[in-house]
Amino acid sequence: MVDMKVNLCGITMENPVMAASGTFGYGYEFAELYDINILGSFSFKGTTLEPRFGNPTPRIAECEAGLINSIGLQNPGVDAVINKELPTLGKVFNKPVMANVGGSSVEDYGKVAGMMDGCENIGWIEVNVSCPNVHDGGMAFGTDPAVVQEVTETVKASTGKPVIIKLSPNVTDITAIARACERGGADGVSLVNTMLGMRIDLKTGKPIIANKMGGFSGSAIFPVALRMVYQVYEAVDMPIVGIGGISTAEQVIEMMMAGATAVQIGAANLVNPYVCRDIINDLPDVMAKYGISSLSEITGGAH
Ligand code: SIN
Repeated sequence: MVDMKVNLCGITMENPVMAASGTFGYGYEFAELYDINILGSFSFKGTTLEPRFGNPTPRIAECEAGLINSIGLQNPGVDAVINKELPTLGKVFNKPVMANVGGSSVEDYGKVAGMMDGCENIGWIEVNVSCPNVHDGGMAFGTDPAVVQEVTETVKASTGKPVIIKLSPNVTDITAIARACERGGADGVSLVNTMLGMRIDLKTGKPIIANKMGGFSGSAIFPVALRMVYQVYEAVDMPIVGIGGISTAEQVIEMMMAGATAVQIGAANLVNPYVCRDIINDLPDVMAKYGISSLSEITGGAH
């Protein structure tokens, strides 16, 4: 018998596998395909104070080993999430869920986190300071250590739930940003969000994405994400959620050895909606193959 349990910021998860924000809706859509209670948890679509229509289309460009998205944080706003999406999710998911929070100002982040503080089924607040697709907020907040610290402090003051800051890979030194989160009182960090990229349509000679650029994710970014998790593990003393190009149980273990306590699966959900379930089913055999009896013991083992 192998033990897949991990503890993320004081909350025990049956396994470390979560679906990443923006690739799993509000969860109940996937519950039509399989019992999502098999998941460690998932992070729901980035939620802002007001509803957002999102960016003009086309918003997606396919690539050889991933895709570029420029959704623009489309979401129904925090009121609708609290009053409609979360109760619907509660009918099919009986574990704490991670709430991904976006904002156009530092105050917005605090307000949304504060409104979610009373939601029983929310376990963690994941603060998105890394969306590359919005002009006001998003990645602009996540590339300046002083601003990251201010957002972290504001959210921490607004909620008693564990606060996890989601970091952008589009920085020179991700460890400087992670240290700013730690100074601000973060309980953990999740990394990485998407890498800024673009494609050009040869027929039109113009960028495929209406917004010209977008966030690149998928299997191609796995080694970059792994490297950043490895670096951040050495820089700070708080749990890390490893994200970026994961699609197999072997990669979950690799990411944990680099320093992750838990992982999120993103773009792979868009290729195979059953991928999280498949990874969780595969994990015991892969653990046995590599002589791992307890997943919680391998975090940071590569250091
Ligand atoms: C988006 O909605 O544009 C993607 C979210 C993100 O990259 O954080």
